[in-house]
Amino acid sequence: MENRRSLIAGNWKMFKTSSDAIDTVKEIVRRLKQVIDIDIMIAPPFISISSVAYIAGQSNIAIGAQNLFWEKEGAYTGEISAPMLLSVGCRYVIIGHSERRQYFGETDETVNKKMRAAINYDLTPILCIGESEKERESKDTFSVLDKQVKKGLKGFSKENLKKLVLAYEPIWAIGTGKTATSNQAQEVHRFLRLLLEKNFGNMLAESTRIIYGGSVKPDNINELMAMDDVDGALVGGASLSAETFCKIVNFKR
Ligand code: 13P
Repeated sequence: MENRRSLIAGNWKMFKTSSDAIDTVKEIVRRLKQVIDIDIMIAPPFISISSVAYIAGQSNIAIGAQNLFWEKEGAYTGEISAPMLLSVGCRYVIIGHSERRQYFGETDETVNKKMRAAINYDLTPILCIGESEKERESKDTFSVLDKQVKKGLKGFSKENLKKLVLAYEPIWAIGTGKTATSNQAQEVHRFLRLLLEKNFGNMLAESTRIIYGGSVKPDNINELMAMDDVDGALVGGASLSAETFCKIVNFKR
């Protein structure tokens, strides 16, 4: 089996003022200095990216954005482009988070355009997909994910997708305290890997990291990471405290 490097990513969503963000990242950098065997990423709010990236500097903590706009520049009030993100030291970008789909009108089509921008500028895209509770109950999980992946990745070749990270975030598990069981996560991640294989071949499927998000905590990370096809976690609430985030990064391996 391909040796995929684990990725633990923190999505701070709309939390933390700039000074809180600075304090937290300082603490994370200090506590995780020794961790060199996995990738670690923090995505603060836009306004803090620059200072947080400066503090993270050459450390093992990479910085990401929670969103981007697909144009390079222009009269798009309130938006931020890929080259702007690169210019402040951002290396990752989260695309198509369910909260953006739910509250800000993102569709598979806009997600696809954002993916294009990230890839063109060599940012590492974390493409988020996931089903709602209703869709799971009506047994539509796989068809929903199939559509989100195919439309989100439409028009790309396997060469384009070398850096792709897929984040499976079941909507019913986000911020609810309900985690998918490790078996539920594994089942879906396996499905996603086979879907990648069918569309882009075995090499890409085996090298792509598929991470899980939805109420990840220090007490469920070990079980999740023990699954064959779970290559990391996208952590919301539990990434806001340096202490809990670092416990998650230090999962059992
Ligand atoms: P929680 O960890 O707060 O459930 O959030 C998950 C998430 O949405 C990460 O992007």
